[in-house]
Amino acid sequence: MKVLGINAVFHDPAAALVIDGLTVAAAEEERFTRRKHGKPPVSFSTWELPQQSIDWCLAEAGIEAGELDAVAYSYDPELAPGQDGDIVAGGWEGLRTLYARRAPLFMRALLPRFDPARFRWVPHHVAHAASATFASGFDPCSVLVVDGRGEHASHLAGRFAGGELQTLAVQELPHSLGLLYEELTAHLGFRRSSDEYKVMAMASYGEPSFLDELRDIVRTRPDGGFTVGDVDFSSYAPPLAPGAEFTPRHAALACSVQRRLEEVLLELAGWLHERTGDRDLVLAGGVALNCVANSRLWRDGPFERIWAQPASGDAGTALGAALNVAAELGDAPAPMESAALGRGWDDIALARELRRAGIAFETPADIADTVAEALAADQVVAWFQGRSEYGPRALGHRSLLADPRSRTNLEKLNDIKGREQFRPVAPMVPAERAAEIFEGGPLPSPFMLFTHRVRAGWAERIPAVVHVDGTARIQTVDRSHEPLMARCLDLFEQRTAVPVVVNTSLNTAGRPMVDSPRDALECFGSAPVDVLAIGAHVVRRAGIAAPGAHRAAA
Ligand SMILES: [Fe+2]
Repeated sequence: MKVLGINAVFHDPAAALVIDGLTVAAAEEERFTRRKHGKPPVSFSTWELPQQSIDWCLAEAGIEAGELDAVAYSYDPELAPGQDGDIVAGGWEGLRTLYARRAPLFMRALLPRFDPARFRWVPHHVAHAASATFASGFDPCSVLVVDGRGEHASHLAGRFAGGELQTLAVQELPHSLGLLYEELTAHLGFRRSSDEYKVMAMASYGEPSFLDELRDIVRTRPDGGFTVGDVDFSSYAPPLAPGAEFTPRHAALACSVQRRLEEVLLELAGWLHERTGDRDLVLAGGVALNCVANSRLWRDGPFERIWAQPASGDAGTALGAALNVAAELGDAPAPMESAALGRGWDDIALARELRRAGIAFETPADIADTVAEALAADQVVAWFQGRSEYGPRALGHRSLLADPRSRTNLEKLNDIKGREQFRPVAPMVPAERAAEIFEGGPLPSPFMLFTHRVRAGWAERIPAVVHVDGTARIQTVDRSHEPLMARCLDLFEQRTAVPVVVNTSLNTAGRPMVDSPRDALECFGSAPVDVLAIGAHVVRRAGIAAPGAHRAAA
């Protein structure tokens, strides 16, 4: 069966293609249009489908729209508000519902050979859930979806067994943990539905001074749901203008909300575990990108193993919807072993792109060795390898790499990217070495969705990646899945005795991650990065010599 999944309703429009249960392609529209998050999450934009992602998914598989057995759309207008035809009421909610209902017609306009009878709507939270249950390979497992909102709810707790989802609890709107966190994000001067991870980073700088008040405002219920009361953030700390410095009160507010979120998730997970007794929990929904909360769930919660979907935001519902419909049509979805589901170019194509741009480059015998040498000489490397990542984390395919031994590299990378200095950068470590250096979180952790404590004796050796609270959001590198990155780490260790490098996403502030070779060259041309390692090829910034060349000259 050939099933195309689409997310188009709120933000992070994306497409994913599942053929005979195998995910062959998945990509976010922002990587093509270069507009972060693809579109604003307003009712007026719901008609817009992720056209470039859809076209690319079909082209990648070499199929035509007429060959699709189904198109799965991650929102069900039958479950949504605004059924009375009044498109204006409830903040234009009816317009969103109308657009979602008309999506098959928009789809046919986009793909003339597509048969609208093959269009299927998948409830938003069922799509999120499927993106974690089928993709994790855990069966049976418990599943927790927590986000801003779907059609009418903001949460789903359930059990997945034998490929079937049983919903055990749903929290109806307006109560929403995701929307509470978004409100706080806006209050602290950041972009809502986008910059929530900045609030999480800021929380590490504060004390949970307002936790008791938050415990009154956000409460769990005996039916597995929760309530979120009215909250006036201004009574704790004044609103911050974008770019303004935060005060200890702002950090205390961020910390208090973060802690209460963690507690509530623990309570929800506890309720779920009491009913399922499962060993494993899978997570999806935007709140599952909160790696600090995920780690707390792992550390203090009742489940032994936790798997979080790397594309836990709404982009991941394109994949979830496709997997769900593929299973309904009789296929057995294969687990997702890697997030590298986006576009890729081979070395010949990359050389052609570099020549076309008139860029001088070299093609060394071993790109991993060349990069390890540059990193050991404290150069910053843009690393463009293989297929791009699905989801917001750079996982060694579109990454900026640096030497973690140099404390100043945190500041340097934040400067290169034009982002706030309070934000951490993350370490990458071979999976089999992680336990030596990090503790207190699940291992392996291939998708950077948990934080770990840096072990005593290591924090001073890798200061660039240690956050203010002594943790690091690690990515463990599996040799069988990521042989090139693993070899680069080995060769860096041979030179430095440290098997860790700094990994942050290859982009500059406010822009989507680099996806194409042209994006990579634009980023390299506009940011003070020393080396671009693109496939087998190396581009060096003017005036930056190969470390080996220094040695040869000396
Ligand atoms: Fe969602």
